[in-house]
Amino acid sequence: MLSKQEQFWTGDFGKDYTERNSHSLDDWNQFYIKNWGVTKLEMNRRSLGDLNSQAKILEVGCNTGMQLRALQSMGYENLYGVEIQKYAVERAKDFTKYVNIIQGSGFDLPFKNGFFDVVCTNGVLIHISPNDLPRIMDEMYRCSSTFIWGFEYFSEETKEINYRGNKGYLWKANFAQLFLERFSDLKLVNSQDYPYVSDAEKGNVDQMYLLKKG
Ligand SMILES: C[S@@+](CC[C@H](N)C(=O)[O-])C[C@H]1O[C@@H](n2cnc3c(N)ncnc32)[C@H](O)[C@@H]1O
Repeated sequence: MLSKQEQFWTGDFGKDYTERNSHSLDDWNQFYIKNWGVTKLEMNRRSLGDLNSQAKILEVGCNTGMQLRALQSMGYENLYGVEIQKYAVERAKDFTKYVNIIQGSGFDLPFKNGFFDVVCTNGVLIHISPNDLPRIMDEMYRCSSTFIWGFEYFSEETKEINYRGNKGYLWKANFAQLFLERFSDLKLVNSQDYPYVSDAEKGNVDQMYLLKKG
C-alpha cells in the first residue's frame, strides 16, 4: 500500500512536476544560480571533493535524472537512480545514457546491503512524512557502504510547509542531524547552508550535507 505522499507523486501532481522538471543541464545550473547563486556542479564539487569517479552512487527519488546527469558530467561513471513515478522513470531514461534507472520506492530499495559507496537524495526527504522518515533513512543507510549525501530544505526544527496549496506533502528539517541521531556510527564530513538569493524565497535555506559511516 502506497503512502499518501507516494500516491501524490505517482498521480497527476507528480506527472506535472516531471513535465516542469524536464530541463537541460545548462538550464538546471541556471536555476541553481537564480535560487542559490551557485551552479549545481559547484555545490556538488564543494561537498564531494575528490570522491573517486568509480564510486557507485545511488540517488533515491531521481525524477528525470537531473542530479545524475550533473554527476555524470563531473566524471562519475557508476550511477543509479530509483524513482517511484513511472512517467518520471521513462523521462529519465530518455534524458540519460549509461545510467541505471529503476522504478521503485525508497522505502524498499532493491539492492543488497552496502551495495553503493554513496546513497543520496536531492529534494526528496522533504516530501516524506516525518512519521515515515525512519523507514527511508534505514533503507538508505542499509544500502550504503560509506556515505549518505543530501541536499534538502533546512530548518533546525521540523516544520510543515504548504506545498503549492496542498497539506501533508512538504516539511523542512535538519536532515543531517536526524541521520546522526538515528545512526551512532555516522559522522558529519561536511555541510553547507545555501540561503536562497531569489526574492520569492528570501529567508529560506537549503543545506547540502555529507555523512560517513565508521
Ligand atoms: C521534488 S522531486 C526531486 C527530484 C530530483 N531529485 C531533483 O532534484 O530534480 C521529488 C522526487 O522524489 C520522488 N519520490 C517521492 N517519494 C518517493 C519514494 N518514496 N521513493 C522514490 N521516489 C520518491 C518523486 O516522484 C519525485 O520525482
